[in-house]
Amino acid sequence: MCIDFSVRGKHVLITGGTGGIGGAFAEAFMAAGAHVTIVDIAPPRSELPAGLKFEQVDLCDDDAVAALGARTARMDVVIHCAGRAALDQEYSPIVFNQIVNLHLTGALRLANAFRPHLKASKGCIIHIASMTSYFAAPYAPAYGAAKTGIMSLTRTLAVEFAGDGIRVNAIAPGWIDTPLTKVVQHDMPEMNRQIVERLPFGRWNTPDELAGLAVFLASPASSILTGVTIAADGGYSIT
Ligand SMILES: NC(=O)c1ccc[n+]([C@@H]2O[C@H](COP(=O)([O-])OP(=O)(O)OC[C@H]3O[C@@H](n4cnc5c(N)ncnc54)[C@H](O)[C@@H]3O)[C@@H](O)[C@H]2O)c1
Repeated sequence: MCIDFSVRGKHVLITGGTGGIGGAFAEAFMAAGAHVTIVDIAPPRSELPAGLKFEQVDLCDDDAVAALGARTARMDVVIHCAGRAALDQEYSPIVFNQIVNLHLTGALRLANAFRPHLKASKGCIIHIASMTSYFAAPYAPAYGAAKTGIMSLTRTLAVEFAGDGIRVNAIAPGWIDTPLTKVVQHDMPEMNRQIVERLPFGRWNTPDELAGLAVFLASPASSILTGVTIAADGGYSIT
């Protein structure tokens, strides 16, 4: 038996690719021989390595996401990593809708735009969920609702897209050191202390530590997996 962990030659689209987790995923897939396109509302902070493509797209814009799908010839893997949190402001219904629109409706927009490509390639979708998919998030109510919704959408799309040969899974990261979480590490000392104390290894995780799971979920070796959300949390959820 030879288990195939390869993503060499696959075309991979990563939203939020200018950010911490999306950026680490882009590096990992490129190192594994994939053709990577990152999509983000923000331009890259430094010059892109040769071969890495960038598309500036707002994932909240129906037409822009549909147009991205229309101008893309081939895609094997779509990873929805774009995200943001507005913390206390999320108790405003307007802001609540904006956050859900990006994380959850954005996932649906991408799935619709790339379904034909993924049907042709027998490809897969990877969503990014969160520990707030499982636990209450009083500090970010829309973010938590959206991330819980991502688990449901992952199951639903897994069933709906199975007839097209497309797998749909999600990764639920724990506490990862990225620009998104700087605010917790620097400005919320009590919350930071509680997080570190709860983690069995007593430290935040890094984006690179998630990348291997994304590559695995994109490879033939994970063909048995669809509709699941995998906690990749350094043990946060078991304590
Ligand atoms: N860092 C963590 O601890 C953690 C934990 C669980 C889940 N997540 C999730 O992982 C994903 C990546 O987060 P990160 O920590 O790398 O954050 P990050 O802030 O480093 O990256 C997020 C990226 O999303 C982009 N983005 C925001 N709004 C967008 C829009 N409308 N259209 C297109 N792009 C947009 C940003 O420009 C940014 O580059 C997010 O979905 C986040 O919710 C992060």
